[in-house]
Order: sequence, then C-alpha cells, then structure tokens
Amino acid sequence: MNSVDVDLGPRSYPVLIGTGLLENAGSLLREHGLCQTNAFVITNPQVGALYFESLQQALGKAGFMRIVRHEIPATEEGKNWEEFSGCCSALLEAFPDTGSIPLVILLGGGVVGDLGGFAAGVFRRGVPFVQIPTTLLAAVDSSVGGKVAVNFGGVKNIMGIFNQPRLVICDLALLKTLSPRELRSGAAEVIKYGVVCSEALFEQLEGGLEKLLALDGAALIDIVTQCVGLKAGVVARDEFDKKGIRNVLNFGHTIGHALELSANYTLTHGEAISIGMIAATRLSIALGLSSPLLLERLETLLHRANLPTRHPDAPGLFDKIVRAMQMDKKFRDGKNLFVLPTRIGGWQQQENVPWELVYEVVRSVLTVSETLPS
Ligand SMILES: NC(=O)c1ccc[n+]([C@@H]2O[C@H](COP(=O)([O-])OP(=O)(O)OC[C@H]3O[C@@H](n4cnc5c(N)ncnc54)[C@H](O)[C@@H]3O)[C@@H](O)[C@H]2O)c1
Ligand SMILES: [Zn+2]
Repeated sequence: MNSVDVDLGPRSYPVLIGTGLLENAGSLLREHGLCQTNAFVITNPQVGALYFESLQQALGKAGFMRIVRHEIPATEEGKNWEEFSGCCSALLEAFPDTGSIPLVILLGGGVVGDLGGFAAGVFRRGVPFVQIPTTLLAAVDSSVGGKVAVNFGGVKNIMGIFNQPRLVICDLALLKTLSPRELRSGAAEVIKYGVVCSEALFEQLEGGLEKLLALDGAALIDIVTQCVGLKAGVVARDEFDKKGIRNVLNFGHTIGHALELSANYTLTHGEAISIGMIAATRLSIALGLSSPLLLERLETLLHRANLPTRHPDAPGLFDKIVRAMQMDKKFRDGKNLFVLPTRIGGWQQQENVPWELVYEVVRSVLTVSETLPS
C-alpha cells in the first residue's frame, strides 16, 4: 500500500492507495483515529450494489453499530441542489440529535464525492467524512483536495465549499468493474497532470498508456500515486484557490466544463476535458505560448486512450458553450482567464485572451462531426 500525505496543517490527511483496502476499511479508519460508531454512507445504486455490503461488513468488524445507506442518482445530472437537499434531509432524519454524529463515508465516483462532501460540510456546520473513490477519475483527482460542490443554475460546481476529508481510502481493485468509457474518462485527468504538471508522467504515458487502461497492477498503483502526489503538492500550496497555483488543475476545464454542460451530459467529465484540453492547447499555440508539436503529442495520447478531441456541432451549441463559459469561476470583472500549457510539464495562466480567438478554438473543436465512443 502506498500513502500520500496531503499536507494542510491541522487539516492534513493521508491518501491510502492499494488493493484490497475496502475489506479492511473499518480497521483503517480506526488506525487513523476515526472512532465514531455511526456511519452515513453516501453512494449510488450502481456502486452500492457492488460494494456496499463489503463496506458494511468491514465497518461492522471495526465496531460500527449503526450504518445508514443513502443513494443518489448514478449520473452527473444527479449532482444538483435537490439531491443535495435530499441528502441533508436523510442525514437529519437518521441522526437528529447531537449525540449521534456519524462518520460520513463517500463510496463512489466524483459525483458522490462532490455532493456528499458538500453535505458533510454543512450538516451541523461540518461532520467528519472520508472518501472511498471508486472511479479512476475520483482516485486521481476529485477525492483529494477538498473542493466539494453541486451544479446549480446551469453552472458546474457553482454551489460548494472547501471541505477536506479525514482520510481517503483508494482501493484500486474497485476499478475493475468500471466500464471502459469511465476508465477512459479518468485517463483524461491523468493525461492532464502529465501535460501541465509532469513531463516524466507524460513520457511514461507515451511509453505505456495501455497498461493503465488495462489496469495493470504495477502501472496503476504507480500512476495513481504520482497523480495524487501532484495534486497534493498543488493543493498544499493553494488550499483555498486564492493564489492562482491551483488553477493548473483547471487545464482543459474552462471550455471543457462549458461543453460538458452544454452537451446535456452526453459526454463524461473526462471526455469533455479531453476536448477542452485540445481547445486550450490550440489557444496556447495561437498566442505563441506553445508549439504545434505539443498539440500533436497530446492529440496522439488522447486518441490512444480513445478519448474524443472534437464534438459534433448542433444548432445553438456554440452559443450555449460561450454562455456557460462566461460563468467560469476563474473569470473576474469581465476578464477571461485560461490555463495554457507552455511545454510538456509547464503552464501559465493568461488573462484577457481576445474573445475572437477563444471563439475560434471553440469552433475548431465543434466543426468536424465524430461519433462518440461507446
Ligand atoms: N472535486 C474535485 O476536485 C473534482 C475534480 C475532478 C472532477 N470532479 C467532478 O467529478 C465528477 C465526475 O466524476 P466521475 O468521473 O467519477 O463520475 P461519476 O461519479 O458520475 O461516476 C461515473 C459512473 O461510473 C459508475 N461507477 C463508479 N464507480 C464504479 C465502479 N467501481 N464500478 C462500476 N461502476 C462505477 C457510477 O455509477 C457512474 O455511473 C464530475 O461531476 C466532476 O465535476 C470533481
Ligand atoms: Zn476535472
């Protein structure tokens, strides 16, 4: 088992990465000082059917007396205010008095993690929670760093807080039941880290991305550990996203998020980010900040992962994307801000990019129609 520390002073926590951890989740919680006897497990019907029972047994062995299961929908569309509110109601109903504060356990992908972490953060002004990521995307990205939120008013992640988990238990064996499409979606975030944070990781992916996609044990634990380490390093330097450092993780997300919403959830998060990374890299080239070779290497890797690099155009789609993009949380006082790669493993942020250029790159990823991988 590998362990990566997210170093945030009093809010520090380890991310445990290995296989077979779910069966020992109860004792891992105890070893890490979590001594509650009530648990509120947030999951979804798909993941719950696969893994809730194992978790329940592991918690029972460690002395948990009351384990309440709450399920939210298994899609991004479920990451909304109504589901968040439903989750808060379920928490209050199950644990109405102050003497019974539960440990909130988030068993699922980024949707469960984002919504559940938000609910745990506001219930009684915050109860402890742990993440058990079950997707590659959640393992390498969303379960670490404490950004938790729901979509609202047509904007991604606009209602949320910073709320760090007490522990992340990343059991790589759980990824075996993921669909190939969801696996590829997570690979998009892995590739993102390579492009802007680590040339060594990018080169490793160029050498053997297929090993990751095949869930080869050694490659998987190595790559997930690297990504978590990269994220932990960024988060430790800019926990509350105030210094601009954390923006690096947003590479591909400005246009990607807007597309994800505008395409009415027909794309997974990673697929949208894949297209967003291509658009952002084109922007970087147009501004003279990076070379066409970088784009070529990125495109090659995304294609090898069977990730889309364009999206079929549709009436009104461009306008929807532009509108959604203008709500980006990084934009201030009418000025846009893009995270752009400058070389493999390097990035910079660019404010006030001429809108015409932005429109041009958005159009460039919409023009050619391409069937989505199933
Ligand atoms: N908070 C952050 O820092 C952060 C970072 C990146 C992404 N995100 C968010 O994460 C979300 C995407 O997360 P995701 O890609 O994990 O999607 P997800 O949570 O929707 O999971 C994808 C699908 O995989 C299924 N699934 C999950 N684990 C499974 C397993 N082990 N076996 C079989 N099926 C399984 C789910 O039921 C779901 O249908 C987006 O909402 C995105 O905004 C947040
Ligand atoms: Zn993302």
